[in-house]
Amino acid sequence: MTQLSVKHLLGIKDLKEEDIRLIFENADNFKTIINRPIKKVPSLRDITVANLFFENSTRTRISFELAQKRLSADVINFASSSSSVSKGETLIDTVKNILSMKVDMVVMRHPSPGAPVFLARHIDATILNAGDGTHEHPTQALLDAYSIREALGEVSGKKVAIVGDILHSRVALSNIYCLQKLGAEVMVCGPSTLIPRHIEQLGVKVEHNLRKALEWCDVANMLRIQLERQDIKYFPTLREYSMQYGLTLDMLDSIGKDITIMHPGPINRGVEITSEVADSDYSIILDQVENGVAIRMACMYLLANHKES
Ligand code: CP
Repeated sequence: MTQLSVKHLLGIKDLKEEDIRLIFENADNFKTIINRPIKKVPSLRDITVANLFFENSTRTRISFELAQKRLSADVINFASSSSSVSKGETLIDTVKNILSMKVDMVVMRHPSPGAPVFLARHIDATILNAGDGTHEHPTQALLDAYSIREALGEVSGKKVAIVGDILHSRVALSNIYCLQKLGAEVMVCGPSTLIPRHIEQLGVKVEHNLRKALEWCDVANMLRIQLERQDIKYFPTLREYSMQYGLTLDMLDSIGKDITIMHPGPINRGVEITSEVADSDYSIILDQVENGVAIRMACMYLLANHKES
């Protein structure tokens, strides 16, 4: 397989296992390149990419922009807070105006689930979903699985616990799809109010006790409590959440096995994870961020070279 089976990257659900493995192979090459003194390649010369961020982002926005620059693309950045969206312009009008300036590829983050799918149906440019509401965050899941492969040699057969606010998390859903396609076992762990009903139907285990989840897993991916998406109270206080689901170094040490600790960021230190854990040898959090650039280079390179069969 030398090209992706999809024209856009809208979600992991649409990808085949071979697509993910092809992205990883290309990311391996790009990771070698970006660790050389000369980090830039001409792979996306003559391609113009628009980064449309209708919601805040640090890691994803910077990582995509860096990946585009390493590939020699022309880049334009758009943030809804400083745009005419605040004057009532619709998503489709905003995007059509940007595309009339001859943009080939759009990277979009949007608070509404399905916004990138909607866009892909209405415009010709290639779309990459950089996170759509509580739906999917495909490049995050790809970089997470790639980081597990790098740390543990293989994803297949590994046991991964995703801990925290599963209900509001696009990272959780994309990770479940991605890890399962690569042959991992997945468990979700958190208070029952933050675990979607019927999530077992996705083939995941459910656990409400953090210690039991840690005893089961090889990898724990600690998610942030997404207060910005919570319209009601799902637990009494952050302090009580942290007492039950906050990961401490004492707890990790007491389990007595090597568990790889991940976090997609941004971290709420002292809530879902202590600083001691985040900065410990258990943690691969900064490797995840580093790998994000190579993964996004691979995705954009492969999509730019996609040909309809
Ligand atoms: N992990 C992640 O999506 O972080 P940002 O919201 O900072 O992009």
